[in-house]
Amino acid sequence: MKSVKKAVIPAAGLGTRFLPATKALAKEMLPIVDKPTIQFIVEEARAAGIEDILIVDGKSKRSIEDHFDSNPELEAALEADGKLEKLQMVQETTDINLYFIRQSKPRGLGDAVLQAKAFVGDEPFVVLLGDDMTRDEVPLTKQLINQYEKTGESTLAVVKVPHEETKKYGVIDPIEKVGDNLYQVRQFVEKPNPDEAPSDLAIIGRYLLTPEIFEELENTKPGKGGEIQLTDAIDSLNKRQHVYAHEFTGRRYDIGSKIGFLETSIEFGLEHPETKDELREYIKKLAQEM
Ligand code: UTP
Repeated sequence: MKSVKKAVIPAAGLGTRFLPATKALAKEMLPIVDKPTIQFIVEEARAAGIEDILIVDGKSKRSIEDHFDSNPELEAALEADGKLEKLQMVQETTDINLYFIRQSKPRGLGDAVLQAKAFVGDEPFVVLLGDDMTRDEVPLTKQLINQYEKTGESTLAVVKVPHEETKKYGVIDPIEKVGDNLYQVRQFVEKPNPDEAPSDLAIIGRYLLTPEIFEELENTKPGKGGEIQLTDAIDSLNKRQHVYAHEFTGRRYDIGSKIGFLETSIEFGLEHPETKDELREYIKKLAQEM
């Protein structure tokens, strides 16, 4: 069995939920306290043993490339001022095997993943979306890799969501539990209305896919919203090979929505050594005034 060493991070969406902030700035560059969200995603991939990462970006995504590039002027200034911790922080972002490709038009997540075909070749790979940040003892990407090492088949991360929220997600129709948190799946359904949703297990932004997904993507017609839906291609792949669902029980932060983004910022701000005490006091004061 080939080991999983490559990751793809699609970051070419329009980010309409964060307008006007995302008119010129990539949504993935919005920071949680002081770190761009895409850096958290890259760190999760690396913690799972991923060696090469392809970022699929679009227009106005230059800032992502610049963020992971070296900045000699800044580095020289930090060194001259003796700010060595900050210097190390800046240099760490360049010490990664990152590749970039453009998605010429935002034709959907499936189309974004298809741009990775040449990079991936015939190896299994993971897809990580910047809309979800996750935390657990074992990083979620590593959990998916562990499942793949048992089955040799594609595996997606799912979480339980409130039933009325199924229309925001791809949802699985599980057949049965076949292992630790692992489900065999009858069907993957994109954004079902709650009265049609086959379960409350919703796909979140971590996928481990076999390279056969590219043939399915090439044959997938635009679906909901006129976009090539990754969920549709996964559903076709499941008819050829098994695609399993791994239920994630760790902490998930939905940073693709405004409220999720704010909640995550507060939670991380309450942990950050430079902000935690003052932020706690501020929240207490606000709560008393409300
Ligand atoms: P979203 O559905 O969250 O879309 O895409 P979006 O454009 O980023 O954000 P909103 O909903 O308009 O606010 C899920 C993921 O797929 C990527 C996005 O960058 C995001 O990581 N994506 C989506 C692409 O790379 N290309 C696309 O054509 C669509």
